[in-house]
Amino acid sequence: MTPVRVPPGPVGAGRQGNKRAYERDPLAFLLDQRRYGDLVRFDDELYIVNSPALAEDVLKHTNTTYTITRDLLGDEADGGRASEDLARWMHARSLAGRGLNRSSLRAAEDRLAATAVRHAETWNARGRIDAIPALEELSADLIAEFCLGPETGRVPALVARLQDARLPGSLPLPGGRPLRRRRLHRVGRDLAAEVSRLIVRRRTRREGSPAAVADLLNTACDEGALTHEGAVSIVVANLFAAHETTAAALAWLFLLLDRHPHVQRQVRDEADRELAGGLPTAADLPRLAVTEAVVKETLRLYPPLWLLERAVDQPTELAGYPLRPGQRVAVSPFVLQRDPRHYDRPTEFRPDRWINRPAAAPLPKYAFMPFGGGPRTCLGAHFATVAMVVTTAALTSRYHLTRTPGTTPAFGTRTILQPEGLTLDLTTRDPQRHREQGAAAREAAQAWCGAARRPPSRAAR
Ligand code: HEM
Repeated sequence: MTPVRVPPGPVGAGRQGNKRAYERDPLAFLLDQRRYGDLVRFDDELYIVNSPALAEDVLKHTNTTYTITRDLLGDEADGGRASEDLARWMHARSLAGRGLNRSSLRAAEDRLAATAVRHAETWNARGRIDAIPALEELSADLIAEFCLGPETGRVPALVARLQDARLPGSLPLPGGRPLRRRRLHRVGRDLAAEVSRLIVRRRTRREGSPAAVADLLNTACDEGALTHEGAVSIVVANLFAAHETTAAALAWLFLLLDRHPHVQRQVRDEADRELAGGLPTAADLPRLAVTEAVVKETLRLYPPLWLLERAVDQPTELAGYPLRPGQRVAVSPFVLQRDPRHYDRPTEFRPDRWINRPAAAPLPKYAFMPFGGGPRTCLGAHFATVAMVVTTAALTSRYHLTRTPGTTPAFGTRTILQPEGLTLDLTTRDPQRHREQGAAAREAAQAWCGAARRPPSRAAR
């Protein structure tokens, strides 16, 4: 019998040896695996992908050749899509996906900054915040208001209680990923009931009240395109998928701005110049290019979902190696986004790489993939980007956010990638200086860039 061809990988260590090395420092272990090539054998059950082309192959063929092994709700969560069959979920997500990107929701996006500032005012009263929980509360509110409108009932509080649930985030090793299933099940059920109540309530919303995702879902239900349960599970899935990921990304972003004061100044100058003291809206995004580049560079260096996992469902080949059903494949955005083949000085925080990127050197599609890819790509990628840009601009223009002196956050990889233990100190910026600096920055921009070629700033409109 011809032996089955297997990709190269660490020799002699075996599953236990690799498992120990991985558990000591998962990110360093995965980065080190690149020396074996684009497809690496961890053991007979698990291969690791190290190139954008192979990542694309795996993610694009999810739902057919490969399956998602772990859904965002945990497989026992009530009201979640684990209990739905794939076709129903895909139908529901396509309806929600269209809704999440619809211009009719611009008004909802325009409320994001006000919510961020409302939270920051309470942080400011305290002077210091524990970044992860504070940003999780903010993110839960942002997504709840977006999906359900201004009345969010007990939803943000219930989402906060989902904390013990586990997102995908480590290799599929025995004993990994504890899921507190019973608790998750109970909170998931309460959350689904509250979401269901609020979706029904949206049917009687007052004239003039801004649209929310729930309205689009209600319309889809009326047209027979979706069941009420389907609508509930979409909103619950969004709430679950959104709050920890967005919070972790914002926490990394504020930590990076603290470490790179010159970038922080650029972000602040941009907000002063373009917003003229007002709150940013989705329409301001094209003028907040530096802030958007900071968001992108943060997601490149620290993608909250740092490891995606698939199970082989149908016999197939990857990079010429055969794969059989039951085997697993891991794709790490963290590793792919630090590949020196695609990024100059890949470990450095350099937002300008997204602004001055030569058109002649396009990135391979999956070299930047913080939101995944293929049919199961993140449903909230657009919303998350808007929410992060708007929050960053609104907060940096009003507050100084600095890491508490003497504290060093730890690299949390237990679930999602986050700066564990990060605390931030908050002080208000002087509003008079804020206005003066905005005027000076606008003058400088006009002198250097030529006002005619730029979209008009708030002050000029
Ligand atoms: C910075 C913030 C975010 C990041 C980095 C992120 C990243 C991701 C990634 C990588 C996936 C794919 C997982 C896989 O392939 O296994 C995913 C799925 C998903 N995301 Fe996000 N996400 C973010 C925010 C959001 C937001 C704000 C929403 C909702 C508005 C959302 C909703 C979802 C949903 C529903 C899925 C599951 C899609 C499916 O399985 O069909 N995410 N996210």
